[in-house]
Amino acid sequence: MRLLVCGGAGFIGSTFVRLRARECGDQVTVLDKLTYAGRLENLQEVRDDIRFVQGAIEDPVAVAESIGGAEAVVNFAAETHVDRSIADPEGFIVTNMQGTHVLLEAARERGLRYLQVSTDEVYGSIDDGSFTEQSPLAPSSPYSATKTGADLLVSSYFHTYGLETVICRGSNNYGPHQYPEKLIPLMILNALAGDRLPVYGDGGNVRNWLFVEDFARGIAHALAHGRPGEVYNCGGPDECDNLTVVRRIVELAGADPDLIEFVTDRPGHDRRYSLSSAKLEALGWQARVRFEEGLERTVAWYRDNEWWWGPIRSGGYREYYERHYGRALKA
Ligand SMILES: NC(=O)c1ccc[n+]([C@@H]2O[C@H](COP(=O)([O-])OP(=O)(O)OC[C@H]3O[C@@H](n4cnc5c(N)ncnc54)[C@H](O)[C@@H]3O)[C@@H](O)[C@H]2O)c1
Repeated sequence: MRLLVCGGAGFIGSTFVRLRARECGDQVTVLDKLTYAGRLENLQEVRDDIRFVQGAIEDPVAVAESIGGAEAVVNFAAETHVDRSIADPEGFIVTNMQGTHVLLEAARERGLRYLQVSTDEVYGSIDDGSFTEQSPLAPSSPYSATKTGADLLVSSYFHTYGLETVICRGSNNYGPHQYPEKLIPLMILNALAGDRLPVYGDGGNVRNWLFVEDFARGIAHALAHGRPGEVYNCGGPDECDNLTVVRRIVELAGADPDLIEFVTDRPGHDRRYSLSSAKLEALGWQARVRFEEGLERTVAWYRDNEWWWGPIRSGGYREYYERHYGRALKA
């Protein structure tokens, strides 16, 4: 298949691109702005097999330059970090909403299939049970609100213009190549370095953890088999609260548990996310990697790949960390 993959230099997008280029032999063009979260290092294994265009999805010229020959558009491109969306929401509105609109227009002009990568955060928090695709949308942060707005726009292009759209909503992903501002890679690298392990609030926030390769396969499955106009949830096989995750990382990294410290909670922090994936499972997708195995693989990958994270942990990242948590990285 000939694919335009937007945001393909990021964590999940690059996992999807490696899968499609290596296992499916697809012709892939990646359009990516290369923000702090997008890195060509993520694509180095397939660099000779794909076409790469550096540009923004909200830029119609860059989109027109990269979309030629594509049969489908898969959109991963987004500003994705909730904390950054609280500090500065504007970039989230531009990329997540305006950018999605530009891509939808380009797909509509050319009659292409369009897959929007979305998140469980559009449903908000749930105390018991799991969200289905019919659950009401109740986003809490500027990040999740802009992802929800984008999803509604995507659905409107199916209903109004008959564009072949599919939305795939994933739960919290983890795995190799994730930028170390998100919980699991942040804790792994801090634990390996003997740095502080800052846990928000009481650490009781529960997430439905999904190994990144399982999500990439779920998206591929929805792209191939999803019905136009439909939404498919793609959740992980296990739920775990943040403190338990951090304690397990401490064990796997051989770190000192006293490095764990509780810090002021994030405003509007959703308590629990949980997704039912029954609809995508009925199409034949199934998560393959349990959390215990995936976490071990992830810790091992970060331990073995300092070339990837070393440059990130110095310079600007250190400043960001210190500004955000109000304390130095080093314990
Ligand atoms: N990480 C998760 O747990 C998770 C869970 C469910 C859904 N999602 C969704 O999956 C998608 C990918 O998430 P991720 O964790 O890989 O994110 P990421 O932050 O690692 O990567 C985002 C990528 O998009 C690129 N990008 C950002 N703004 C852009 C723009 N204006 N134009 C073009 N490229 C741009 C970045 O350079 C980067 O390569 C997002 O849409 C996110 O909402 C993420």
